[in-house]
Amino acid sequence: MRKKIVAGNWKMNNDLAETELFLEELKKQVFPENVVIMIAPAFTNLNHAFNSLRQHPAEVIAQNMHQSNEGAFTGEISAKMLKSVGANTVILGHSERRAYFNEDGAILSEKVNTALENEMTAIFCVGEELKDRKNGTHFQLIKTQLSEGLFHISNDAWENIIIAYEPVWAIGTGETASPEQAQEMHKFIRKTIAENYSNKIAENVSILYGGSVKPDNASEIFGQPDVDGGLIGGASLQVESFMKIANSF
Ligand code: PGA
Repeated sequence: MRKKIVAGNWKMNNDLAETELFLEELKKQVFPENVVIMIAPAFTNLNHAFNSLRQHPAEVIAQNMHQSNEGAFTGEISAKMLKSVGANTVILGHSERRAYFNEDGAILSEKVNTALENEMTAIFCVGEELKDRKNGTHFQLIKTQLSEGLFHISNDAWENIIIAYEPVWAIGTGETASPEQAQEMHKFIRKTIAENYSNKIAENVSILYGGSVKPDNASEIFGQPDVDGGLIGGASLQVESFMKIANSF
């Protein structure tokens, strides 16, 4: 079922003390009832955040995981490990993972399978670079990312998929896609899912926008008919701006 979601992607920010401070402040907030709030702290602070938020509606999620269930992969984290510390949702295919850690469609489709096998929800990220938009190849690129990473899954598996559209040129740059550009791509993503699966599946999947979402632009972006919320980087690091965004529907 399509939900309104605001997810904070902390990336490699906030040590334990900073995480604790954030959580104490977050727990004082009144959460909007119709919005699912998620935060993605560093792996090292997941369990602490999960325990701290036990009585609170915010969900603690992971930023990444390895595609194998276990084994000789020094420095990596498995789905089972994430679930054992309370994270049942994982962000996959963030553009930083694609760009700096060589995660391509083949790896990401394995990661999606591993998440689904382990009964986790995946927030699957897609997004074009500026050169793709300038060349006019951005729609085709998003279609390819979707089909390589996701379009092998079963109809039922879509219940555990959230999509995040994050144009790379808008991430951390202060430059946001206009609400019209976001809507245009979200509508295209929904249409592409409908063509490969069904209208019902396409209508039920939540599609988040990410890329320089801030308190002053969130409501216009979230007001678009095919935008179901946001994946927030920089502005999720302060409780005040994060909660303002969560209250922007
Ligand atoms: P930003 O990051 O909000 O800092 O642009 C978004 C993201 O990378 O998920």
